[in-house]
Amino acid sequence: MTGKRILLIVGGGIAAYKACELVRLIRKNEAEVTCVLTDGGAHFVTAMTLAALSENPVHTTLWDLKNEVEMGHIQLSRAADLVVVCPATADLMARMAAGIADDLATTLLLATDKPVLAVPAMNVRMWQHAATVRNVATLRASGVSVLEPDEGMMACGEYGPGRLPEPDAVWAAIGGMLGAGASTDSARAAVSRSPVRAEPVEAHSHPLSGKHVLITAGPTHEPIDPVRYIANRSSGKQGFAIAAAAARAGAKVTLVAGPVNLDTPQGVRRIDVETAREMAAAVDAALPADVAIMVAAVADWRSADQSAQKIKKDGSGQVPPLQLVENPDILATLGRSDHRPTLVVGFAAETNDLLTHAHAKLARKGADWIVANDVVTHKMGGEVNALHIVSAHGIESLPEMSKDAAAAALVKRIADALA
Ligand code: C5P
Repeated sequence: MTGKRILLIVGGGIAAYKACELVRLIRKNEAEVTCVLTDGGAHFVTAMTLAALSENPVHTTLWDLKNEVEMGHIQLSRAADLVVVCPATADLMARMAAGIADDLATTLLLATDKPVLAVPAMNVRMWQHAATVRNVATLRASGVSVLEPDEGMMACGEYGPGRLPEPDAVWAAIGGMLGAGASTDSARAAVSRSPVRAEPVEAHSHPLSGKHVLITAGPTHEPIDPVRYIANRSSGKQGFAIAAAAARAGAKVTLVAGPVNLDTPQGVRRIDVETAREMAAAVDAALPADVAIMVAAVADWRSADQSAQKIKKDGSGQVPPLQLVENPDILATLGRSDHRPTLVVGFAAETNDLLTHAHAKLARKGADWIVANDVVTHKMGGEVNALHIVSAHGIESLPEMSKDAAAAALVKRIADALA
């Protein structure tokens, strides 16, 4: 991405502050960015902030004699490799869709001959209003890529789709449009990879409609006695994010969850379990499925004996013997089952030799894909992930991004593979 030039139009909305983070991300990855600040945008961020972060002059008006002489607005619209509108407000998208050119931003958008990416952010009702739906469809039909907004709590207190996607997801989409993997530094270090595809998701598309997606998530707890258990540090966040993304893509989702402290994503059927053996039974009972995504960090071993009473220290200094036995491997069982789902995806959380272990697991577990992540760089329980999708066809390394964005990227690839 070194040297790629992005023209960033910052619209007026509270999400404009995230545009500053996007500018930092673009610069960190050695691409060039020139900002255009609309009148509305200037109510939320200043030209000074954008100039300092972008290390470039910021353009705010059509009627700036100095800027117009040094670089006319037509030239400005052509000098970039990609035009990004972030945040794209309902008003800005309406004017874009209508071909209105009544300020610098809309004039540049009408004059440009370069691809345009719009990143919407607005109140949920505004996003779902028939006028906005129509405008987004018009923009898409005329070749503008419009990202889907995130779903969640809004600055105005309402809940739903309309939040600006996180800057790393926008950066991944920019990479997709510039025909190169928009990688962060950590992803760049990946051993081997094919280009990152981070295409914008089509609005209102339900590519997994009619499919049953079965997901495991979280850790398992293996009791030693009534008060003690063997566990691991899995938070369940990535598996829950995948369940949410699959449900948004129209799938019927069954989520078999180990002990975690997370809310059930909308539209997801959740089955809570504690041990690996309970998880195996719940997975078996949920079959048949079209896709299985085994994200859970299942305990490999459990205590051979489970004391009915709390094991006590007897003062002798002798430690009680803890004998372990192996748990059933849910993924490997599924990979070889008569009821094998069409696509079986396993996860590999590794501390070393990530891709070597992932390749070995692919064969050993009978999975179609192993999604590997390095739990030294991205500690279990964190908010971001960098996934490497390993299959018989090679490795695709995604850049570091939020777990929600990683989930959306994975679900997109699953939908593509099923299609
Ligand atoms: O062998 P390892 O635990 O590293 O493999 C990880 C993958 O296998 C994950 O997809 C995990 O959900 C799955 N697994 C399983 N049952 C086990 C152990 C792991 O399904 N007993």
